[in-house]
Amino acid sequence: MFENLKAQKSDAILALMQMYRDDPRAKKVDLGVGVYKDASGNTPIMRAIKTAEQRLWTEQTTKSYVGLAGAPDFNDAMVQLVLGDAVPRAHVSSVATPGGTGAVRQAFELIRMSNPSARVFVSDPTWPNHLSILAYLGMEMVPYRYFDADTRGVDFDGMMADLKTAQKGDVILLHGCCHNPTGANLTGPQWADVITVLNDTGAMPMIDIAYQGFGDGVEADAAATRAVAAGVPECLIAASCSKNFGIYRERTGILMMTAAGTDKALAQGSLSFLNRQNYSFPPDHGARLVTIILNDDELRADWMAELEDMRTGMLTLREALAKELEAQSGSNRFGFLAQHRGMFSRLGTSPEMVAKMREDSGIYMVGDSRMNIAGLNAETIPILAKAIVAAGV
Ligand code: LMR
Repeated sequence: MFENLKAQKSDAILALMQMYRDDPRAKKVDLGVGVYKDASGNTPIMRAIKTAEQRLWTEQTTKSYVGLAGAPDFNDAMVQLVLGDAVPRAHVSSVATPGGTGAVRQAFELIRMSNPSARVFVSDPTWPNHLSILAYLGMEMVPYRYFDADTRGVDFDGMMADLKTAQKGDVILLHGCCHNPTGANLTGPQWADVITVLNDTGAMPMIDIAYQGFGDGVEADAAATRAVAAGVPECLIAASCSKNFGIYRERTGILMMTAAGTDKALAQGSLSFLNRQNYSFPPDHGARLVTIILNDDELRADWMAELEDMRTGMLTLREALAKELEAQSGSNRFGFLAQHRGMFSRLGTSPEMVAKMREDSGIYMVGDSRMNIAGLNAETIPILAKAIVAAGV
């Protein structure tokens, strides 16, 4: 039987992680996978997580199953964190999932279950795993223009023209904040225009929000998601706790469904059914830590403070890199790096140049020239700037 298996294309981000590990050079710079790192290259366990783990260890008395949809207090806390008061709770259904990717996968399956011929509009570019999962599920994708190669900002006119071709029954996949892989994001008024197009076309939005708190702050980063969810009759939201709680390996995420016109028992039942088919009960450990933190004023404040330090640290790195590039290149053409938000920026150069920087200078960025800004520090910024200028970007 297994002789029928076909070799799968390796995931570019994960393959790069391995290449970096295998590189014996001491002076190598990892700007690959989207994992936060501090100035010494460590991915710390956040203080509030450590405290919550201690509390959990002391207080937890059973490891028996929780709920098929997740622990209700986790779902409530996450709906509040992401949606605030934007949507009446009676219209929101949710399931805890293994990470944000689990939520994305469940969302696509729910779409396929509801409308097998739905087309999913995806930004060009988007997180490669969106495309890979959609292809695996046999779902039709329609790319919409997003990244402007000249300005390294959003090609908003192109995006709007493409989104206007969507129809009722289609889905438009949007990044709630901190667009991955480009770092280029919509402004508030542009989001309002997107909501108008959603209502004009009848297409349903699906929002992937994996970096809340890494862009302009926890509340600011949720603003677009809240506006969209409040502005349309139906919406799917896949949220991740991997980055903002730093609990990558605990696989903690949630899929939310807002549906004003659908019976809540049907909506919730469909989500729970999908959990049961795919993995039965969702993981609980990370979800419990998040719940402890969000429901405790002191821990929540400490989590917010540490997250804010991470966010402002990344902003400082952005500004320092843009400044260093200005000094080394004698031009201001890299100013976009300070405008981008979140963990990533797309430099906007060719895979050949990316390979050259890796071979000559030990700099690891994804082949589409996505850089993880958190992988930089004061020592590596000049090295990267030199390599970028030497590569003629
Ligand atoms: C990334 O984009 O690097 C992260 O979301 C990690 C992943 O799974 O690809």
